[in-house]
Amino acid sequence: MCGIVGCVLKEKKAAPILLDSISKLEYRGYDSVGIATAVDRKINLKKDAGKIKEVDKKLDLKDMEGSFGIAHVRWATHGDPNKTNSHPHLNMDRTIAVVHNGIIENSAEIKEELIGEGYKFKSETDTEVIPHLLDKYMKTGLDLENALRKVLDVIHGSYAIAAICVDEPGRVVATRKDSPLIVGIGHDEYFVASDYPAILKYARDIIFPEQGEIVVLNPDGVTVKDEYDNVINKEVTTINWSPEMAEKGGYDHFMIKEINEQDTAIQNTLTQRENVQQIVDELKGDINRVVFVACGTSYHASLIGKYLIEPLAGIPTEVLLASEFKYSARTLDEKTLVIFISQSGETADTLKALDIANETSKTLAIVNVVGSSMTRRAQYVIQTQAGPEIGVAATKTYVSQLTAIYLFAGLLAGDEELLSKLEKVPDYINEILKDCDVIKQLSVKYRYAKDFFYLGRGYAYPTALEGALKLKEITYIHGEGYAAGELKHGPLALIDKGIPVVVLLPPGDNLEKTMSNLEEVRARGADVLAIGARKDKEQFTHAKDIFLINDEVDEIIAPLVYIVPLQLLSYYVAISKEGVDPDKPKNLAKCVTVE
Ligand code: F6R
Repeated sequence: MCGIVGCVLKEKKAAPILLDSISKLEYRGYDSVGIATAVDRKINLKKDAGKIKEVDKKLDLKDMEGSFGIAHVRWATHGDPNKTNSHPHLNMDRTIAVVHNGIIENSAEIKEELIGEGYKFKSETDTEVIPHLLDKYMKTGLDLENALRKVLDVIHGSYAIAAICVDEPGRVVATRKDSPLIVGIGHDEYFVASDYPAILKYARDIIFPEQGEIVVLNPDGVTVKDEYDNVINKEVTTINWSPEMAEKGGYDHFMIKEINEQDTAIQNTLTQRENVQQIVDELKGDINRVVFVACGTSYHASLIGKYLIEPLAGIPTEVLLASEFKYSARTLDEKTLVIFISQSGETADTLKALDIANETSKTLAIVNVVGSSMTRRAQYVIQTQAGPEIGVAATKTYVSQLTAIYLFAGLLAGDEELLSKLEKVPDYINEILKDCDVIKQLSVKYRYAKDFFYLGRGYAYPTALEGALKLKEITYIHGEGYAAGELKHGPLALIDKGIPVVVLLPPGDNLEKTMSNLEEVRARGADVLAIGARKDKEQFTHAKDIFLINDEVDEIIAPLVYIVPLQLLSYYVAISKEGVDPDKPKNLAKCVTVE
């Protein structure tokens, strides 16, 4: 997804800071970069397709005068990644510059009208209508802020927009709808950005603009106004994420750093127990159905919610993909609790579903990013405490989501035994991390595989799905997760000599049956990697490879622990392949703000 930054500084050059800030949004996935500043009634513009380092080498992005400006990393939607389509985009007089994240759905009609009025377009982007519209409204006598307000009446879609104009030195105006945007207040420096990592080094006092509010950054401060031009007294939240949390800290990649931070992420999320207890106290007795809604990895975390809440609390629970929510959730009522799980809190599919559910039901969001849209739109919020996650593949936020779900289910059911088991999970994870050389060696063996299968039963089934997703997204190897019992109903036909099959065998009621599934695939020549408890080692002798986990990890808490070797396996396979960057898998973005 595109990322935007804007800043207004006092007596400092904006370009080096904009470059530094926008580099921190690389993780969002991008193909082009650009910066615009303004000085002496002139816009300075440098932009091109390519990675930030390459473009900087070619254009020297830091070397631009001006103490205010805007920057962008583009993830192409309308038009190929090339210099012309890169942001910022300008009006014909080159007096206004605009960056935009999102999609202007009616850009084609607006473009046609503007062309009729004599405006000439250079790019194929939807964004370019914005500087031309701003130009049109400013020519009627409006200032940049009011021109932007007028643009919002015309454009449809999702957007975070930041703009500058040579006639208004020292000013950046910005707005948002269905796309993330935060405002950072530093010492004599003010920012807007798509996400925290961009500004953590400069500002930790944050304002969260609501839909359609207009933000104006000046050298002396920030003003936020509503659509009727009224100044709004916005709450300022100081966030405790440090700039170091968004750095690699000596690791080769964010992903492996974040895998190693899972113990702390879980411990920190467990500190939310009191907050979760309060939510449970308010809801208990008032709900007779739970529906989880999420996408991707967060959906896999949600599946565990069903395995926990139904048997432990006796409340019927369903899990829906957010993108399918509107087609399948027809029977929500005030007794239904709809739980939204999201790392970013900005995923468009999930946000849409949240808006629908808010009309009829109780809504709870389990979200990692502080102040994100979901935290502001849901009726109840549990904040996971994973800290910023930069690697595109979710790892530490997944186990934090699981921790929050276990807390919620355990407190709802009053199951102290389950809650006390959670305390030791960080230790079990650290034991696995100490054994990571074993996984590294396995990755050498498996890196040439074309297809992988992951099998799990009951609590282990969502882990199989998540293991396969991690493999697909960062190694580009095909992987499928299956409920172990489902294999013989079709996919077994695909099992052949030498196909790796990872079988999850945590101790518990499902172990025996999953062992039979292991035998089914082994008999067809699969290379089985068995992952199970040390005490059950003798049972796994038929497997080609074995990875062993602490005996105390039973099948109920296994989802929090058994995912770790699967994350490591994907990571080590990815880095053994040339040209694969596990932090920025191709075609993927960290925050998916389009439906
Ligand atoms: C995979 C991954 C994605 C996200 C999904 C939802 O590693 O990260 O599948 O889980 O895009 O994103 P959030 O959790 O931000 O709503």
